[in-house]
Amino acid sequence: MLSLTALLSAQPFDGQAAQQEAAPPAVPEKSLWDGAYTTDQAELGAFLYDTHCSACHAPNMTGRLDANGDAFPLVGSEFWRRHEGKGLNETFSFMRTRMPLGMAGSLPDRDYAAILAYVLQANGYPAGMTALPMTAAELAAYKFTDFPAGR
Ligand code: HEC
Repeated sequence: MLSLTALLSAQPFDGQAAQQEAAPPAVPEKSLWDGAYTTDQAELGAFLYDTHCSACHAPNMTGRLDANGDAFPLVGSEFWRRHEGKGLNETFSFMRTRMPLGMAGSLPDRDYAAILAYVLQANGYPAGMTALPMTAAELAAYKFTDFPAGR
């Protein structure tokens, strides 16, 4: 006799599906708290950030208002307010198409990914076993939610 769980997970057009495990959704949501980047990636990102971004966003990412406009902070509460609920794909795409200001798109994708990894690290998200992906679909699985408290 079928269990209730098996009935609920049964596929509509497949009578045999009741015997299978429920399939995971196509693009499962992932949590930044499970480790979305590697420490190696963030280390490379730190070097690249210092070279290409820190002049405007400040060495500690607190941002700067100057002749270039308001180079927003990339850490802390203002950053969180601006990014809350958005997918990492949006930040990644903004970086590749707009930054560094005046030299947009001058870095390869893997460098933008490394810098984004460093931004995650600076905000207090933990490193994990796999590098931050570079495709929009994979990045979209990560959302800026549950920001680290007390910063
Ligand atoms: C010449 C100054 C300058 C440099 C260099 C620069 N930025 Fe920016 N950045 C800005 C300004 C100004 C803004 C505000 C948006 C705009 O004017 O397009 C900004 C906005 C941003 C934002 C959006 C922040 C938000 O909260 O919406 C991100 C992310 C960002 N920059 C990342 C980078 C990265 C990564 C680099 C290095 C690869 C970089 N920037 C280099 C000036 C700069």
